[in-house]
Amino acid sequence: MAIRPIIVIAGVGNGSGTGGATARVFSKAGYRVALIARGADKLKKTAEEINQAGGEAAAFPIESYSYKALRDVFGTIKAHKWSAGETPEIRAALWNTGAGVRKGFLDVTEEDLQVVLDANVNGAFAFAHEVIQAFKRNQIDDLGKRGTLIFTGATASLRGNVTTSAFAAGKFALRALSQSLNKEFGKENIHVAHAIIDGGILTDLSLSRRSDEEAAKAWKENADIRLDPESIAKSYLYLANQDRSAWTWELDLRPAHEKW
Ligand SMILES: NC(=O)c1ccc[n+]([C@@H]2O[C@H](COP(=O)([O-])OP(=O)(O)OC[C@H]3O[C@@H](n4cnc5c(N)ncnc54)[C@H](OP(=O)(O)O)[C@@H]3O)[C@@H](O)[C@H]2O)c1
Repeated sequence: MAIRPIIVIAGVGNGSGTGGATARVFSKAGYRVALIARGADKLKKTAEEINQAGGEAAAFPIESYSYKALRDVFGTIKAHKWSAGETPEIRAALWNTGAGVRKGFLDVTEEDLQVVLDANVNGAFAFAHEVIQAFKRNQIDDLGKRGTLIFTGATASLRGNVTTSAFAAGKFALRALSQSLNKEFGKENIHVAHAIIDGGILTDLSLSRRSDEEAAKAWKENADIRLDPESIAKSYLYLANQDRSAWTWELDLRPAHEKW
């Protein structure tokens, strides 16, 4: 029986960022798409757009990125009836959540910390646990692997700064998780990768944060100074297509004119 791969993506926002773009790029490459995020309506809309474009996507909303919520949602994903035909198999996964806590250290609350811990540790551990269990059941494919698990990082995965004590602590933890999983499961032909996104990503939210309409327009139109989510997604597809003789643990992506 032919296999049809599934990608599971956690963290999709309103579909305009990296999570949504990854869903569309993998869908065009033949993957079925399982979307996990908070906010059922936004998620349903992203899934519907993919289905209308000829792909196959399903929405799996959750209340939070807690350990339990992630473990439970995989039960729903496993029970989901995909269209008849090829056998569905989870072959790729993306942990893309980003807890946007940016404030001075003395203002960080216990609630902020819980959000950061869920988005980068608790939920990420549960997600990785479920994905790796699923990969372990897969046969080795033509690329010599059982599956690819990707984590989205940020500049803050490597560098703390004045308002990022919580955000960077979370992203550092996520990077450490991805590196440990890469070492532990590489020998089982499971590919774990981490992407440092070292620059601003063009999304509806990041556009809304520009100082005024003119600044937003200039930033949107200049591909030298911000990352396009679709370009990031194409790099994720490249990671999933790498064979086991030369695969990447860490990729860093930045726009051409990023000052570093
Ligand atoms: N935007 C940037 O400039 C930028 C730069 C470097 C790195 N990154 C990283 O890139 C990834 C993708 O971001 P994106 O900007 O392209 O948007 P995106 O793909 O739409 O995804 C961002 C996701 O993070 C989740 N999220 C946001 N705030 C959260 C919070 N307070 N608690 C828990 N989860 C939260 C959202 O979850 P729901 O889907 O549940 O709403 C959203 O899906 C994130 O990991 C982000 O940290 C972003």
